[in-house]
Amino acid sequence: MVGLGELLIKTSSRGTIRGGSQEGFRPEMTGLAEDGGGYSSDPRLAELYDHVIPYQERGDVTFYVDAAREGGGPVLELGCGTGRILLPTARAGVEIVGIDLSETMLAACRRKLALEPVEVQARATLHLDDMRSFDLGSKFKLVTTPFRSFQHLLMVEEQLACLERVHRHLMPGGSLILDIFNPSIRAFTQTNYGEIVAEEPEFSLPDGTHCVRRHRILGRDHFQQITQVELLYDLMHPDGTEERLVQAFPMRHLFRYEAEHLLVRAGFEIKALYADYQMNPFGTQDPGELIFIARRR
Ligand SMILES: C[S@@+](CC[C@H](N)C(=O)[O-])C[C@H]1O[C@@H](n2cnc3c(N)ncnc32)[C@H](O)[C@@H]1O
Repeated sequence: MVGLGELLIKTSSRGTIRGGSQEGFRPEMTGLAEDGGGYSSDPRLAELYDHVIPYQERGDVTFYVDAAREGGGPVLELGCGTGRILLPTARAGVEIVGIDLSETMLAACRRKLALEPVEVQARATLHLDDMRSFDLGSKFKLVTTPFRSFQHLLMVEEQLACLERVHRHLMPGGSLILDIFNPSIRAFTQTNYGEIVAEEPEFSLPDGTHCVRRHRILGRDHFQQITQVELLYDLMHPDGTEERLVQAFPMRHLFRYEAEHLLVRAGFEIKALYADYQMNPFGTQDPGELIFIARRR
Protein backbone atom coordinates (compact mmCIF):
# COMPACT_ATOMS: atom_id res chain seq x y z
CA MET A 1 0.00 0.00 0.00
CA VAL A 2 1.23 3.47 -0.82
CA GLY A 3 1.58 5.63 2.27
CA LEU A 4 0.05 9.08 2.42
CA GLY A 5 3.53 10.59 2.57
CA GLU A 6 4.34 9.14 -0.84
CA LEU A 7 1.13 10.53 -2.31
CA LEU A 8 1.88 14.04 -1.14
CA ILE A 9 4.21 16.11 -3.24
CA LYS A 10 5.37 19.25 -1.54
CA THR A 11 4.92 22.38 -3.58
CA SER A 12 5.60 26.01 -2.84
CA SER A 13 4.15 27.86 0.12
CA ARG A 14 0.78 27.46 -1.56
CA GLY A 15 0.42 24.03 -0.04
CA THR A 16 0.54 20.46 -1.09
CA ILE A 17 -0.48 18.77 -4.29
CA ARG A 18 -1.52 15.16 -4.30
CA GLY A 19 0.37 12.99 -6.74
CA GLY A 20 -1.11 10.51 -9.17
CA SER A 21 -2.26 12.60 -12.11
CA GLN A 22 0.25 15.35 -12.49
CA GLU A 23 1.28 14.82 -16.08
CA GLY A 24 4.02 17.22 -17.06
CA PHE A 25 3.43 19.07 -13.82
CA ARG A 26 6.44 20.00 -11.78
CA PRO A 27 5.85 20.95 -8.14
CA GLU A 28 7.61 24.33 -8.46
CA MET A 29 5.06 25.43 -11.08
CA THR A 30 2.41 26.40 -8.55
CA GLY A 31 4.74 28.93 -6.94
CA LEU A 32 4.13 31.26 -9.89
CA ALA A 33 0.54 31.95 -8.84
CA GLU A 34 1.67 34.41 -6.17
CA ASP A 35 1.91 37.14 -8.78
CA GLY A 36 -1.64 36.49 -10.01
CA GLY A 37 -1.07 35.39 -13.58
CA GLY A 38 2.49 36.56 -14.06
CA TYR A 39 1.42 39.98 -15.38
CA SER A 40 4.15 41.72 -13.38
CA SER A 41 6.93 39.35 -14.40
CA ASP A 42 7.94 41.81 -17.16
CA PRO A 43 6.64 45.41 -17.36
CA ARG A 44 6.25 45.04 -21.12
CA LEU A 45 3.46 42.48 -20.69
CA ALA A 46 1.12 45.28 -19.62
CA GLU A 47 1.99 47.22 -22.78
CA LEU A 48 1.49 44.18 -24.98
CA TYR A 49 -1.86 43.29 -23.38
CA ASP A 50 -3.96 45.88 -25.21
CA HIS A 51 -2.56 44.85 -28.60
CA VAL A 52 -3.31 41.12 -28.35
CA ILE A 53 -5.89 40.48 -31.08
CA PRO A 54 -8.01 37.84 -29.24
CA TYR A 55 -8.26 40.22 -26.26
CA GLN A 56 -9.47 43.00 -28.56
CA GLU A 57 -12.00 40.62 -30.11
CA ARG A 58 -13.37 39.04 -26.94
CA GLY A 59 -16.76 40.63 -27.46
CA ASP A 60 -17.48 41.04 -23.75
CA VAL A 61 -17.21 44.83 -23.37
CA THR A 62 -20.83 45.59 -24.36
CA PHE A 63 -22.07 42.89 -21.98
CA TYR A 64 -20.23 44.48 -19.03
CA VAL A 65 -21.08 48.06 -19.96
CA ASP A 66 -24.78 47.14 -20.31
CA ALA A 67 -24.72 45.32 -16.95
CA ALA A 68 -23.11 48.36 -15.32
CA ARG A 69 -25.67 50.71 -16.88
CA GLU A 70 -28.58 48.51 -15.79
CA GLY A 71 -27.18 48.17 -12.26
CA GLY A 72 -26.56 51.90 -12.22
CA GLY A 73 -23.26 51.71 -10.33
CA PRO A 74 -21.14 51.99 -8.44
CA VAL A 75 -19.36 48.98 -9.92
CA LEU A 76 -16.29 47.22 -8.57
CA GLU A 77 -14.11 45.31 -11.04
CA LEU A 78 -11.77 42.72 -9.55
CA GLY A 79 -8.61 42.33 -11.64
CA CYS A 80 -9.29 45.38 -13.82
CA GLY A 81 -5.93 45.11 -15.60
CA THR A 82 -5.29 47.82 -18.17
CA GLY A 83 -8.92 48.99 -18.10
CA ARG A 84 -10.24 47.10 -21.12
CA ILE A 85 -13.68 46.98 -19.42
CA LEU A 86 -13.21 49.69 -16.80
CA LEU A 87 -12.61 52.56 -19.22
CA PRO A 88 -15.66 51.95 -21.48
CA THR A 89 -17.76 51.59 -18.30
CA ALA A 90 -16.61 54.98 -17.01
CA ARG A 91 -17.17 56.47 -20.48
CA ALA A 92 -20.73 55.12 -20.38
CA GLY A 93 -21.42 57.29 -17.34
CA VAL A 94 -21.10 54.66 -14.59
CA GLU A 95 -18.92 55.08 -11.52
CA ILE A 96 -16.41 52.25 -11.30
CA VAL A 97 -13.61 51.17 -8.96
CA GLY A 98 -10.96 48.76 -10.25
CA ILE A 99 -8.53 46.76 -8.17
CA ASP A 100 -5.60 44.76 -9.45
CA LEU A 101 -2.61 42.95 -7.97
CA SER A 102 -0.27 44.08 -10.73
CA GLU A 103 1.27 47.54 -10.46
CA THR A 104 2.32 47.42 -14.12
CA MET A 105 -1.21 46.59 -15.35
CA LEU A 106 -2.63 49.38 -13.18
CA ALA A 107 0.03 51.81 -14.41
CA ALA A 108 -1.03 51.10 -18.01
CA CYS A 109 -4.65 51.69 -16.98
CA ARG A 110 -3.72 54.97 -15.24
CA ARG A 111 -1.89 56.22 -18.33
CA LYS A 112 -4.95 55.57 -20.49
CA LEU A 113 -7.33 57.07 -17.94
CA ALA A 114 -5.24 60.28 -17.86
CA LEU A 115 -6.05 60.77 -21.57
CA GLU A 116 -9.82 60.64 -20.96
CA PRO A 117 -12.05 63.72 -20.44
CA VAL A 118 -12.10 64.89 -16.81
CA GLU A 119 -15.65 63.67 -16.20
CA VAL A 120 -14.63 60.13 -17.24
CA GLN A 121 -11.53 60.33 -15.04
CA ALA A 122 -13.74 61.39 -12.13
CA ARG A 123 -15.86 58.26 -12.46
CA ALA A 124 -12.95 55.77 -12.26
CA THR A 125 -10.83 54.91 -9.23
CA LEU A 126 -7.96 52.44 -9.22
CA HIS A 127 -6.40 50.58 -6.31
CA LEU A 128 -3.45 48.24 -6.09
CA ASP A 129 -5.13 45.48 -4.12
CA ASP A 130 -5.71 41.77 -3.87
CA MET A 131 -9.14 40.31 -4.63
CA ARG A 132 -8.60 37.87 -1.75
CA SER A 133 -8.23 40.54 0.95
CA PHE A 134 -9.44 43.98 -0.21
CA ASP A 135 -11.29 46.29 2.17
CA LEU A 136 -12.42 49.43 0.37
CA GLY A 137 -14.80 50.79 3.01
CA SER A 138 -17.61 51.24 0.49
CA LYS A 139 -20.44 49.20 -1.04
CA PHE A 140 -21.28 48.45 -4.66
CA LYS A 141 -24.34 47.50 -6.66
CA LEU A 142 -22.33 45.26 -8.95
CA VAL A 143 -19.01 43.42 -8.60
CA THR A 144 -17.46 41.90 -11.73
CA THR A 145 -14.55 39.57 -12.42
CA PRO A 146 -14.23 39.79 -16.22
CA PHE A 147 -12.02 37.52 -18.29
CA ARG A 148 -11.30 34.71 -15.84
CA SER A 149 -9.29 36.68 -13.29
CA PHE A 150 -10.88 34.51 -10.57
CA GLN A 151 -9.08 31.49 -12.04
CA HIS A 152 -5.78 32.88 -10.78
CA LEU A 153 -6.98 31.83 -7.31
CA LEU A 154 -5.82 28.24 -6.99
CA MET A 155 -7.10 27.06 -3.65
CA VAL A 156 -10.68 26.85 -2.36
CA GLU A 157 -9.66 28.97 0.65
CA GLU A 158 -8.57 31.76 -1.69
CA GLN A 159 -11.77 31.51 -3.74
CA LEU A 160 -13.90 31.68 -0.58
CA ALA A 161 -11.84 34.56 0.81
CA CYS A 162 -12.49 36.49 -2.40
CA LEU A 163 -16.23 35.71 -2.40
CA GLU A 164 -16.48 36.71 1.26
CA ARG A 165 -14.87 40.08 0.38
CA VAL A 166 -17.29 40.50 -2.53
CA HIS A 167 -20.28 39.68 -0.31
CA ARG A 168 -19.21 42.33 2.23
CA HIS A 169 -18.75 44.95 -0.48
CA LEU A 170 -22.14 44.41 -2.13
CA MET A 171 -25.21 46.45 -1.26
CA PRO A 172 -28.27 44.38 -0.31
CA GLY A 173 -29.62 42.85 -3.50
CA GLY A 174 -26.37 43.61 -5.33
CA SER A 175 -24.89 41.15 -7.82
CA LEU A 176 -21.64 39.50 -8.75
CA ILE A 177 -20.75 38.55 -12.32
CA LEU A 178 -18.34 35.63 -12.12
CA ASP A 179 -16.84 35.02 -15.55
CA ILE A 180 -14.73 31.88 -15.97
CA PHE A 181 -13.90 29.20 -18.56
CA ASN A 182 -16.21 26.27 -18.97
CA PRO A 183 -13.55 23.56 -18.68
CA SER A 184 -13.20 21.36 -21.75
CA ILE A 185 -12.94 17.70 -20.78
CA ARG A 186 -11.39 17.01 -24.18
CA ALA A 187 -8.62 19.55 -23.54
CA PHE A 188 -7.86 17.91 -20.19
CA THR A 189 -7.07 14.60 -21.88
CA GLN A 190 -4.43 16.11 -24.19
CA THR A 191 -0.87 15.40 -23.15
CA ASN A 192 1.14 17.34 -25.73
CA TYR A 193 2.95 19.20 -22.97
CA GLY A 194 5.49 21.76 -24.09
CA GLU A 195 4.21 21.84 -27.67
CA ILE A 196 2.85 25.03 -29.18
CA VAL A 197 -0.94 24.57 -29.18
CA ALA A 198 -2.04 27.92 -30.58
CA GLU A 199 -0.58 30.78 -32.54
CA GLU A 200 -2.41 34.07 -32.75
CA PRO A 201 -2.52 36.74 -35.46
CA GLU A 202 0.61 38.90 -35.50
CA PHE A 203 0.36 42.46 -34.24
CA SER A 204 2.63 45.50 -34.11
CA LEU A 205 3.45 47.90 -31.30
CA PRO A 206 3.63 51.69 -31.85
CA ASP A 207 7.48 51.50 -31.87
CA GLY A 208 7.38 49.08 -34.84
CA THR A 209 8.05 45.90 -32.85
CA HIS A 210 6.20 42.91 -34.33
CA CYS A 211 4.80 40.25 -32.06
CA VAL A 212 3.43 36.74 -32.55
CA ARG A 213 1.94 35.19 -29.44
CA ARG A 214 1.95 31.44 -28.99
CA HIS A 215 0.53 29.22 -26.24
CA ARG A 216 1.68 26.03 -24.66
CA ILE A 217 0.59 23.89 -21.76
CA LEU A 218 3.44 22.66 -19.57
CA GLY A 219 1.40 20.28 -17.49
CA ARG A 220 -1.81 19.59 -15.64
CA ASP A 221 -2.69 18.49 -12.17
CA HIS A 222 -6.01 16.74 -12.60
CA PHE A 223 -6.57 16.34 -8.86
CA GLN A 224 -6.13 20.06 -8.16
CA GLN A 225 -7.73 21.05 -11.50
CA ILE A 226 -4.77 23.24 -12.33
CA THR A 227 -3.21 23.75 -15.76
CA GLN A 228 0.23 25.31 -16.08
CA VAL A 229 0.07 27.72 -19.00
CA GLU A 230 2.78 29.58 -20.86
CA LEU A 231 2.08 32.51 -23.17
CA LEU A 232 5.09 33.13 -25.40
CA TYR A 233 5.47 36.59 -26.90
CA ASP A 234 7.92 36.31 -29.78
CA LEU A 235 9.11 39.84 -30.53
CA MET A 236 10.94 41.10 -33.60
CA HIS A 237 12.34 44.55 -32.81
CA PRO A 238 12.70 47.25 -35.51
CA ASP A 239 16.49 46.66 -35.59
CA GLY A 240 15.86 42.99 -36.47
CA THR A 241 16.75 41.50 -33.08
CA GLU A 242 14.47 38.79 -31.74
CA GLU A 243 13.35 38.17 -28.20
CA ARG A 244 10.90 35.89 -26.39
CA LEU A 245 8.91 37.08 -23.37
CA VAL A 246 7.30 34.33 -21.35
CA GLN A 247 4.23 34.79 -19.17
CA ALA A 248 3.82 31.65 -17.12
CA PHE A 249 1.01 30.95 -14.71
CA PRO A 250 -1.11 28.21 -13.21
CA MET A 251 -4.82 28.38 -13.91
CA ARG A 252 -7.46 26.75 -11.73
CA HIS A 253 -10.49 25.27 -13.47
CA LEU A 254 -13.93 25.20 -11.90
CA PHE A 255 -16.72 23.02 -13.17
CA ARG A 256 -20.28 24.30 -13.39
CA TYR A 257 -21.73 22.67 -10.29
CA GLU A 258 -18.56 23.25 -8.28
CA ALA A 259 -18.82 26.98 -9.00
CA GLU A 260 -22.53 26.94 -8.15
CA HIS A 261 -21.87 25.25 -4.80
CA LEU A 262 -19.05 27.67 -4.07
CA LEU A 263 -21.27 30.68 -4.77
CA VAL A 264 -24.14 29.35 -2.66
CA ARG A 265 -21.71 28.50 0.16
CA ALA A 266 -20.47 32.09 0.04
CA GLY A 267 -23.99 33.51 0.41
CA PHE A 268 -25.07 34.05 -3.19
CA GLU A 269 -28.15 33.01 -5.13
CA ILE A 270 -27.65 32.08 -8.80
CA LYS A 271 -29.87 34.25 -10.99
CA ALA A 272 -28.54 33.23 -14.41
CA LEU A 273 -25.81 31.20 -16.07
CA TYR A 274 -24.70 32.14 -19.57
CA ALA A 275 -22.51 30.39 -22.13
CA ASP A 276 -21.44 33.61 -23.86
CA TYR A 277 -21.67 37.40 -23.77
CA GLN A 278 -24.83 37.37 -25.89
CA MET A 279 -26.45 35.75 -22.83
CA ASN A 280 -27.21 32.43 -24.47
CA PRO A 281 -27.92 29.90 -21.73
CA PHE A 282 -25.27 27.50 -20.43
CA GLY A 283 -25.17 24.38 -22.61
CA THR A 284 -25.69 26.17 -25.91
CA GLN A 285 -21.92 26.49 -26.63
CA ASP A 286 -19.24 23.83 -26.44
CA PRO A 287 -17.38 24.41 -24.22
CA GLY A 288 -18.41 28.09 -24.01
CA GLU A 289 -17.97 30.22 -20.96
CA LEU A 290 -19.34 29.98 -17.45
CA ILE A 291 -20.81 33.40 -16.74
CA PHE A 292 -22.72 33.47 -13.46
CA ILE A 293 -25.01 36.27 -12.38
CA ALA A 294 -25.13 35.73 -8.63
CA ARG A 295 -27.17 37.87 -6.22
CA ARG A 296 -26.09 38.56 -2.67
CA ARG A 297 -28.48 36.84 -0.27
C1 LIG B 1 -6.93 38.25 -17.77
S1 LIG B 1 -6.52 39.76 -16.92
C2 LIG B 1 -8.12 40.55 -16.99
C3 LIG B 1 -7.99 42.06 -16.98
C4 LIG B 1 -9.29 42.80 -17.26
N1 LIG B 1 -10.33 42.45 -16.31
C5 LIG B 1 -9.78 42.50 -18.67
O1 LIG B 1 -10.87 41.94 -18.81
O2 LIG B 1 -9.07 42.80 -19.63
C6 LIG B 1 -6.44 39.20 -15.22
C7 LIG B 1 -6.08 40.32 -14.25
O3 LIG B 1 -6.28 39.83 -12.92
C8 LIG B 1 -5.27 40.37 -12.10
N2 LIG B 1 -5.16 39.54 -10.88
C9 LIG B 1 -4.73 38.27 -10.77
N3 LIG B 1 -4.81 37.85 -9.50
C10 LIG B 1 -5.31 38.89 -8.78
C11 LIG B 1 -5.64 39.08 -7.41
N4 LIG B 1 -5.43 38.11 -6.50
N5 LIG B 1 -6.16 40.26 -7.02
C12 LIG B 1 -6.36 41.27 -7.92
N6 LIG B 1 -6.05 41.15 -9.23
C13 LIG B 1 -5.54 39.97 -9.66
C14 LIG B 1 -4.03 40.35 -12.99
O4 LIG B 1 -3.01 41.19 -12.51
C15 LIG B 1 -4.62 40.78 -14.32
O5 LIG B 1 -4.56 42.17 -14.49
